[in-house]
Amino acid sequence: MKAIILAGGSGSRLYPLTQVSSKQLQAVFDKPMIYYPLTILIAAGVREICLISTPLDLPRFQQLLGDGAHWGVSIQYREQARPEGIGQAFLIAEDFVGNDNVVLMLGDNIFSGGDDFPRSMAEFQGGATIFAYRVKDPERYGVVEFDRDGKALSIEEKPAAPRSNFAVPGIYIYDNRVLEIAKSLHPSARGELEITDINRAYMEQGQLQVHRLSRGFAWLDAGTSTSLQEASSYIEAIERRQGIKIGCPEEAALVRGFLSLAKFDALVQQMPKCQYREYLVTVADETRKLRG
Ligand code: TTP
Repeated sequence: MKAIILAGGSGSRLYPLTQVSSKQLQAVFDKPMIYYPLTILIAAGVREICLISTPLDLPRFQQLLGDGAHWGVSIQYREQARPEGIGQAFLIAEDFVGNDNVVLMLGDNIFSGGDDFPRSMAEFQGGATIFAYRVKDPERYGVVEFDRDGKALSIEEKPAAPRSNFAVPGIYIYDNRVLEIAKSLHPSARGELEITDINRAYMEQGQLQVHRLSRGFAWLDAGTSTSLQEASSYIEAIERRQGIKIGCPEEAALVRGFLSLAKFDALVQQMPKCQYREYLVTVADETRKLRG
């Protein structure tokens, strides 16, 4: 399974922050936003990742994440010249995807809790799998209605009269047919290639599976300055309470076995003295004790 992280867009709701830095590079408490989706993918065992962003922002992502080798993964980069829709990701990254199945993840989606994503990816057999998360204000999102077996019955983008309370978060799993479906899309009324149209194409073939995220799961939105601040506070509260970090790619790579302890130690040695480094030293010590 390969993965695309889509981290372009205009970030207009975060103006003026986004005048100088992409939305997905903004701080969510103690690390850049992009670390959170990246960590989800590493924790799920994905090793081949393609990051798509704007021509202006791409160099900063490259500076931050490099080629991924230091985390035992491979990160490639592609440009999206203009924000012409989430569905365009599959046209841009077609050569990267090749003949594989692919996860698409939005670079501004922050999740915490549960093992739903690794399980869904491991169990994926074909078709498409999306997730459903109960929210109070579904009209702001893509909304999905589904039966007891998790088969999607309807899916609508920002409906005025939602048919369910279940919003669709920005992580989607597809088989390779997604490349052909994306090519057949036409821009919507707002001029975008819509991810909802891709999901609807799978639904019409009876192949859109919906995985309901459990109650304990947090899906945080970081698209406005208020929600960005709330996401930071949430992450800070959990991290301080538990003494763990959320969205730490180094730790996920160690746990997943992408990095040996020796490589992990070497990586930590290169970091400046800071709380992030102190945390990773603790992780290394605890892992050493556990492994004997
Ligand atoms: P949005 O939050 O819908 O859009 P945006 O990031 O441009 O922000 P704003 O509405 O404030 O202008 O996008 C959701 C995610 O998808 C976000 O991570 C950006 C990404 N995206 C792209 O990379 N390219 C696109 O063409 C679109 C539409 C979104």
